[in-house]
Amino acid sequence: MAERPLRIAATADLHYGKHSRGTLHDAFAEISRSADILLLCGDLTDYGLPEEAEELVADIRAAVRIPVLAVMGNHDFESSQPENISKVLDGAGVNVLNGEAIEIGGVGFAGIAGFGGGFGRRMLNAWGEPLIKQFVQESISHAVRLEQALGKLQTEKRIVVLHYSPIRATLEGEDPEIYAFLGSSRLEEPINRFKVTAVFHGHAHNGILDGRTSTGIPVYNVSAPALRKTGKPYLLSVLKTVAVLSLTPRFSEVPPKSGGWKPL
Ligand SMILES: [Fe+2]
Ligand SMILES: [Fe+2]
Repeated sequence: MAERPLRIAATADLHYGKHSRGTLHDAFAEISRSADILLLCGDLTDYGLPEEAEELVADIRAAVRIPVLAVMGNHDFESSQPENISKVLDGAGVNVLNGEAIEIGGVGFAGIAGFGGGFGRRMLNAWGEPLIKQFVQESISHAVRLEQALGKLQTEKRIVVLHYSPIRATLEGEDPEIYAFLGSSRLEEPINRFKVTAVFHGHAHNGILDGRTSTGIPVYNVSAPALRKTGKPYLLSVLKTVAVLSLTPRFSEVPPKSGGWKPL
């Protein structure tokens, strides 16, 4: 087994519309040349329409030759068709993680959209009106499913892929009034417990690019609008000393979920 670093490219909040084809073609081609895997951290479409997802997968098909993992974002739910969006992505070989885990190149990836709820002592609790309890329950459910996904991974290195932020730090620059809708500390608990290697999230268009959990785990906000200041709409992160067998060499050969990768 040859060992070499795993190069992870990550981006989010692409917000593809019905006429977005081509927007990220060149960036995808660049990613495909410089990274081993691409993470798409939600808000892939603008209104959650399958036609919008088709525009995105046209660019992915044309330019990406490396494995792609994705989670959904709130915009991808807007038209109440997340299954159809997922189907379009799946058809192009993109692995959509919805509380699932997968191993690629000896590294484990656990992904889920996540949800809001707020942070620390100000986190919303399940108390009062039924709708508040429902909101909090959704937040808890995403954290539990993330924990279950992490529990399935046997790898030494574990990466978490989210849309919502697990920490407050990367939201700096956003209006404090909306922090509770941008993420939740509940997601941070399993990340700390499983000693995750790194976390990638989106959703915070106006946030800052990195922060750390309370136990020091690096958290990267890869929202494309936030990344714009770096000159590139994606982040390239290198995981050192990772055992890599052979990553899927050609996009056309990327198998569906039940194929050669190791869905857990
Ligand atoms: Fe977004
Ligand atoms: Fe979002």
